[in-house]
Amino acid sequence: MKIPLALTFLITSVCLAQKTPANYDEAKVGEVVLPDVLASGSTAEQWVGVRRPEVLQLFQDHVYGRIQPKPADLKFEVTAVKSDALGGAATRKLVHVSLAKHPAWKGMDVMLLVPNQRKGKVPVFVGLSFNGNHAVSTEKDIPISTRWMRPNSKNDKAVVDNKATEDSRGVEASRWPLEMIVGQGFAVATAYYGDIEPDHADGWKDGVRAALSPEGAETVWKNGDWGAIGAWSWGLSRILDYLETNADIDASKAAVIGHSRLGKTSLWAGASDPRFGVVISNNSGEGGAALMRRNIGETTEVITRVFPHWFTSKYKSYAHDVNACPVDQHMLIALMAPRPVYIASAAKDDWADQKGEFLSGRNAEPVYALFGKKGLGVEEPPPIDSPVGDAIAYHNRTGVHDVTDYDWLQYLKFAARHFGVSSAR
Ligand code: GCU
Repeated sequence: MKIPLALTFLITSVCLAQKTPANYDEAKVGEVVLPDVLASGSTAEQWVGVRRPEVLQLFQDHVYGRIQPKPADLKFEVTAVKSDALGGAATRKLVHVSLAKHPAWKGMDVMLLVPNQRKGKVPVFVGLSFNGNHAVSTEKDIPISTRWMRPNSKNDKAVVDNKATEDSRGVEASRWPLEMIVGQGFAVATAYYGDIEPDHADGWKDGVRAALSPEGAETVWKNGDWGAIGAWSWGLSRILDYLETNADIDASKAAVIGHSRLGKTSLWAGASDPRFGVVISNNSGEGGAALMRRNIGETTEVITRVFPHWFTSKYKSYAHDVNACPVDQHMLIALMAPRPVYIASAAKDDWADQKGEFLSGRNAEPVYALFGKKGLGVEEPPPIDSPVGDAIAYHNRTGVHDVTDYDWLQYLKFAARHFGVSSAR
């Protein structure tokens, strides 16, 4: 019998995707022995001067790749200003960020919304979107992204032939409650992650990684070189570079936020760029807040097979021996110390391993303690919809893998408290 090619392809991809079925049984996780984040008897000075740089280097070498410095040829051009966006609540600026001497990178379009009701400089949330600025808001005058885009899982008309259509306007708006954020006195700066690097295996050739590499699209990536998460985090830092030049923004009060793969990205941005004063991970899962040594939900084997371009190539070598990796994700959370970090899970997001996300926060506490900072304050994951913690905070919200108003309400309170600004206006 001859099997049609399409069917062979389907069977192969199903087999590949399901090599080993994911484990969801806590009893089968086995014993988890985490690498020490600190040597015993450490001090805050030793952490800052010795151990933190070591841990940061380990994450560069083994997981995300080398952090790239701020380029000297960074350029900002304001391309549009609307003083009565969001029904008059905000001024919207579109800013094109590019590299004057590396034109192979097409640059990124940052959308900044600044509350019109403000006395002086305002704090800001900085985060990337999955579908572009026009998808974050429903306002009709925001240009539709023209860049390569992954199909939209909820609306197949939103992205056709890897290009956004008019149907994608606002598709991500529920994840970005702009009126609420601006109404509480915060600015929002966002850009499409695909502007920095399109999210597919060859995407780097059209993104900043090829543009900054002397070999361009011919580059052969080696262990320790940056991956897509590194590139997207780099983009977040460049948004912050712009915000530092904007007179309306208090860039010392910038909270970096991201969901899912972009939550992994916000954590890496927070670790690699200490200017982010608050770091927020929403449902970031494997390769984000979830401990890699816990065999539950997504694993290192799966993520490095399905999304190898997100990481430095070395990370894949731990697919079948995660205990050999010199870091685990509690050490990533510790890299934020003493800055406040918020880790959020969703009750129906088992793929992201809610308990593993909680435990990375819990196991980062000794580093926060060196600075006299309190962490989660509880030993076991709290009940659903019961936020806990101080400098490390956590909640597990009712519902699925997503960003909701409930999540944002916690982040707004958290950022307001730690930045010392009043959020209730
Ligand atoms: C996949 C992937 C996750 C990732 C998620 C997302 O589910 O396995 O690691 O977080 O996509 O970014 O939406």
